[in-house]
Amino acid sequence: MWGGRFAAGPASIMREINASIPFDKRLWKQDIAGSKAHVAMLAKQGIVSQADADAISAGLDTIAAEYEANGVPVNLDLEDIHMVTESRLAELIGPAAGRLHTARSRNDQVATDFRLWVRDAIDEVEAGLNGLQRALVARAEENADAVMPGFTHLQSAQPVTLGHHLMAYYEMVRRDRSRFADARERLNECPLGAAALAGTGFPTDRHMTAKALGFAKPTDNSLDSVSDRDFALDYLMAATQASLHLSRLAEEFIIWASQPFGFVKLPDAYSTGSSIMPQKRNPDAAELVRGHAGRIMGCMNALCVTMKGLPLAYSKDMQDDKPPVFEAHDLLGLSIAAMTGMIETVTFRTDRMRGLAESGFATATDLADWLVREGGIPFREAHHITGRAVAAAEEAALPLDKLPLETLKAIDARIDDRVYAILTVDASVASRRSHGGTAPVQVRARIAQAKQDLGL
Ligand code: ARG
Repeated sequence: MWGGRFAAGPASIMREINASIPFDKRLWKQDIAGSKAHVAMLAKQGIVSQADADAISAGLDTIAAEYEANGVPVNLDLEDIHMVTESRLAELIGPAAGRLHTARSRNDQVATDFRLWVRDAIDEVEAGLNGLQRALVARAEENADAVMPGFTHLQSAQPVTLGHHLMAYYEMVRRDRSRFADARERLNECPLGAAALAGTGFPTDRHMTAKALGFAKPTDNSLDSVSDRDFALDYLMAATQASLHLSRLAEEFIIWASQPFGFVKLPDAYSTGSSIMPQKRNPDAAELVRGHAGRIMGCMNALCVTMKGLPLAYSKDMQDDKPPVFEAHDLLGLSIAAMTGMIETVTFRTDRMRGLAESGFATATDLADWLVREGGIPFREAHHITGRAVAAAEEAALPLDKLPLETLKAIDARIDDRVYAILTVDASVASRRSHGGTAPVQVRARIAQAKQDLGL
């Protein structure tokens, strides 16, 4: 492509370090679409003849069909997807192929291809996260009244419902989706036609190509167009945040599936056995989701470091932008699919959850609140009285609501038998009716809104 100036070809190691085709072949669909939009514009503006443009466009269709059928050929002599496609076009249609690259450069070409690719990637992630939300909402609705221990410090804190716990992840995924949607909107400007860095002297119509490729508008600064990859970083940052949420959900499943907890039975389809310990059912898929989050964060970090010291405009370092985005996208797609599958098929052991919620003095706060409400006692004092009741219950090896009234009265004479109505875990969750609270009425109201938002 630059034989006019160079007498010798590249060293083989130069060919190898220089080539991006082993990975940027994943951009082929976007590359063909970008070239077709470009050549249609060149013809309309009278920059190339309609006959040449037609030949180029038909040639690009043939190449797309070849790639679809046989994959993209990898030959390191042709550095990247742009050169592979252009050289194949020359084989197919002859010298007219050389007119395609008028008024553009690989710098704006790759920026365009990559934006298109990331836009498609965001659409895929959005669909995946939508599926995950649906699964969460469905299981939350089934379990809107199922009581479980709620934890702080992984210590039994107050009873909550499983539906409420699952809906917490629905909210996280909702915000993840908004981050991807936001990234999509910001990236949706077309760099094509910025050319190498300075724009072009040809009478191009950048609005036409932007429109043809589904962008909202052309980018407004040619230097910025070819030299920023913030759109890829926006994707990676949104992916990192989403993967952190998935990882926390995965971690809950790992804990819940352990024998001491026994809150869930993981489906066979998402577990593995052990070759020597027949009793084992390992939460491998969840562990890998947890592990993948680390790799996705690594991808984000890699591109941040690549970009941080680069002057304007294009530098070849930026060729390294694609592998981390591709890797993160593949890992995220798998993680979303695995967690969705697990949520859909896991068996929740709600009897076991309830049993543990009832045994952990989880309604101690309810007793303290009752003393405040019914006895007019300051909360600090009520907390102290309740602490003594918990100690007595511990001593007697009884749950709070089974402590005899005399024992409670001996601790504080202001306690009477009405207290038993608030000491059960069901009464406790039912009472937490504040907006966003764990009461089944609140959880069901949120689920109804979520279903409406998801179009269910
Ligand atoms: N393969 C290159 C990349 O991925 C395409 C752009 C090359 N531009 C250049 N001026 N060498 O970044």
